[in-house]
Amino acid sequence: MKLLSLHVQDFRNLAAVELAPSPRATVLLGENGQGKTNLLEAIYFLTTLKPLRAVRLAELVRFGADRAGVAGDFEGPGGVRRVAVQVAAGGRTASLDGKALGSGARLDDYFEGLASVCFSPDDLLLVKAGPDGRRRFLDRAAFNRWPAVLGEAREYVRALRARNAALRGGAPEVEASFREPLVRAGARLLVRRRDLVAELAPRLRAAFAEISGPSAPEAHLAYRAAGGVEVDHPEAEVAARLARALEARLERDREKGFTSAGPHMDDLVLALGGKGARLYGSQGQQRALVLALKIAEIENLRAALGRPPLLLLDDVSSELDPAKNRFLLGYLAALPAQAFLTTTDRRLIEPAAGPDTAFYEVRSGVVSPLVS
Ligand SMILES: Nc1ncnc2c1ncn2[C@@H]1O[C@H](COP(=O)(O)OP(=O)(O)OP(=O)(O)O)[C@@H](O)[C@H]1O
Ligand SMILES: [Mg+2]
Repeated sequence: MKLLSLHVQDFRNLAAVELAPSPRATVLLGENGQGKTNLLEAIYFLTTLKPLRAVRLAELVRFGADRAGVAGDFEGPGGVRRVAVQVAAGGRTASLDGKALGSGARLDDYFEGLASVCFSPDDLLLVKAGPDGRRRFLDRAAFNRWPAVLGEAREYVRALRARNAALRGGAPEVEASFREPLVRAGARLLVRRRDLVAELAPRLRAAFAEISGPSAPEAHLAYRAAGGVEVDHPEAEVAARLARALEARLERDREKGFTSAGPHMDDLVLALGGKGARLYGSQGQQRALVLALKIAEIENLRAALGRPPLLLLDDVSSELDPAKNRFLLGYLAALPAQAFLTTTDRRLIEPAAGPDTAFYEVRSGVVSPLVS
């Protein structure tokens, strides 16, 4: 799936952008605060319907405007399709070939062949920071792999909110009636994440070895479910185990007013040579591990979709040491992927540029082609 053209309106500081991306690398050059990340965010939003940074959708609408819109023409095996998304009054509407999702167009058709992986300096904290970021990584990666996860994760969050409210105020039978849907949605998500981790683990090991050389320790990835729930079982059995964990914690959870087991409490374990990378890895090793994790996701999608996902690289070269930067740019140059790269310094990404690289300048929210 190739993005042939991109149209952005009143998204963040981008009033009106028309862009014809390169089939390979498109470089967005500009000083700080000009709108480079905003443009990546627009593309990410279009291809995943999830905001990249925004906490509330309203943040995406340009100050003073009442709606934001992003649209793109994607070329795939079945021809060219127009996908579009709008934010207005804090809500989001998406359409495929002019037909609104939900009425006329199906979510699966919208995401057919769309997948994008973003790599930004914040990701470099993935190993070091708390479990939130790792769960977010997992869910975004799972959703790229299986678009149905978008709805499944929402269903889980809804069930969790309902049960937490019942824990705080409801009678025992009210709580019990909310536990069953929570267990069902939770087990679904656990199985998705478990399957994804199983796919990513060997790819992570290989990518880390390639980045760090033969003498480096072996990288290991595993899923750790809270409450000791074992996930290496068929889905129904995972559900039964999650139900037992919730039952065992019922008194405590009622006191705290909060569900203390389930996918929202889980973590991803990253280790080097058998030791937790978060506690024992060096700064450089932790960053190499994050880079390896991103490459594992890209390679996994590439294998599953038959082509690499759309890549969005936000100012990554400025944050990586020269050796890792060389590795990443070499990897990208060899990958037949469509990519967008932002930078304040053109020299940093020069090694990834080829004859078909397109250069654009971003200044005060205006995007214009640069003749190289
Ligand atoms: N909803 C909005 N409406 C208008 N402007 C916005 C909105 N949200 C953010 N901005 C502006 O966008 C600008 C930041 O854009 P962006 O993060 O894309 O910069 P950048 O080019 O990536 O810079 P850097 O190189 O520092 O990362 C800020 O000046 C901010 O005020
Ligand atoms: Mg930026």
